[in-house]
Amino acid sequence: MGRFVIEGGRRLKGEVNINGSKNAALAIIPATLLASGPCVLSNLPNISDVDLSFEILRKMGATVNRQGKHVAIIDATSINSTEVPFNLAMKMRASYYYLGALLSKFNEANVAMPGGCNFGVRPINLHLNGFKSLGAEYRVDRGIIRLKAKHLQGTKIYFDVVSVGATINILLASVMAQGVTIIENAAKEPHIVDLANFLNSIGACIVGAGTNVIKIKGVSKLKSSNYTIIPDPIEAGSYMAMAAITKGDVVIKDITIKHLESIINKMESIGVHITRYDNSLRVCCADALKKADVTSQAYPGFPTDMQPQITALLTSAKGTSIVTEGIWNNRFQYVGELCRMGAVITVDGKVAVVEGGKRLTAAPVVACDLRAGAALVIAALGAKGITEIENTSYIERGYEDIVGKLTGLGAYIRKV
Ligand code: EPU
Repeated sequence: MGRFVIEGGRRLKGEVNINGSKNAALAIIPATLLASGPCVLSNLPNISDVDLSFEILRKMGATVNRQGKHVAIIDATSINSTEVPFNLAMKMRASYYYLGALLSKFNEANVAMPGGCNFGVRPINLHLNGFKSLGAEYRVDRGIIRLKAKHLQGTKIYFDVVSVGATINILLASVMAQGVTIIENAAKEPHIVDLANFLNSIGACIVGAGTNVIKIKGVSKLKSSNYTIIPDPIEAGSYMAMAAITKGDVVIKDITIKHLESIINKMESIGVHITRYDNSLRVCCADALKKADVTSQAYPGFPTDMQPQITALLTSAKGTSIVTEGIWNNRFQYVGELCRMGAVITVDGKVAVVEGGKRLTAAPVVACDLRAGAALVIAALGAKGITEIENTSYIERGYEDIVGKLTGLGAYIRKV
C-alpha cells in the first residue's frame, strides 16, 4: 500500500503543472470502444485508474499503445468480448462506463457491480432504468450486471437525482440508438461536456452537454479522432489548498479557470489571494484565514470531490466553519484522522462543524479514500512535525506524481 512521510511547516513556492482530468479520462477511454478506428488521446493523467481502464480494454481484445506518459493510441476495433473481467471491474467505480459503451456497440454488456470509494450506499438505479428505457433488459447474476437489447431506441429519460455517472452511461448507450434521446436533469460537470465533445469528434450528434437537457441524435457509425482531455479541476483545487495551508506562493499551471470558479470563490472568501492568468492561477496566502460555510453541490456548485480538502484547510481558519456534504451520505470518514492531528471537528450526519485556527500536529494517519487522502496531505503540509499517511495507493489513483510535484514546490515528502 505505501506510506507518505511529510514534514509540515514548509512554505510551498514555485509552479506546478496540472494533469488531465481523471474523471474525464475514465469516461472517454471506454468511449473509444465506439470508434471505427484508432483514437489518439492526449493529456491523459498518468495514474493507476487510467492504467486499470487500459487493462480492461486490453483484456477485451483492444490494443493500447502509450506514447510517453500522457498520450495513448487506442484501437478498440478488435474487441470481441462483451464482458469486463470481474476482478478488474471490482477495483474501480468507473468500470461501469463499460456497461453503456458495450451496450451501445454490441447490444450486450456484462460488467461486475462496481467498486470504488466508499461514501455510503452508491446506487446505480438511474443507470439501469435509463438502459431499460432505451430498450435493454437487465439482470444481476452472481454480482455481474447483464444487459441485453434487440436494438436501442432513443427516448426521453428524466433523472430524479442529478448523477454524473448515469448521465455519462446514457450518453454512451444512446449515441448509436435509433432516433433521438433526451436526458433531462442531466449532470453539467466539465467532464460530461468533455465526453460529449469527444463523442462529437468521432461523429456523434450531441447538443446541450453542460446544461441540464442533453439531446442525442443516434448515428449509425462513429469514426476515429485525436482528442485532448481537459485539465483536472480537482487536482488544481487540491494544490490551491496545499499552497494556502502552508502560506505559500504557488502558480497552478495548465488549468481551465472557468471550471474552478466555485473553488476560487470559496478560497477568496477565506482570505486566500488569487491572481488569474489565461491558463494559470497564482495562489498566495500571507494573512490568517477566515472561517467559511461550504456546501458541496452538483456543478457549478462547490464540488464534493473538494469537500475533504477544504475541510482540512478550514482547520487552519480562525472561527467556526460549517461544511455540509450535499451529494454523499457518508463522506466525512476522514474526519477522525484529522482529529488525530489535533483538529476540532464534530460531525452530525452530513454536516461537519470545524473549530479552526489552531495549528495541527503530526500523527500517524490512514487515508480511507482518494480525496480523504488528499485532505490528509494538506493537513500534514500545514502541521507541526512529521506525519505518516498510510494507504498512499488511494491518493495515487487520482494525483499524478504527487511526491515529485510537492518536492518541486519545496515540501518535504517521501514515499516509503
Ligand atoms: N445516485 C443515485 N442513483 C444512481 C446514481 C447516483 O441515487 O443511479 C445518487 C448518489 O447516491 C449520489 C448522487 O446521486 O448521492 C450523485 O452521484 P453520481 O452518480 O453523480 O456520482 P458518481 O458518478 O458515482 C462521480 C465521480 C465522483 C464524484 C461524483 C459526484 C467519477 C468516476 N466519479 O461519481 O468522483 O464524487 O461523481 O460529483 O466520475 C472522485 O473523483 O473522488 C469521485 C469520487
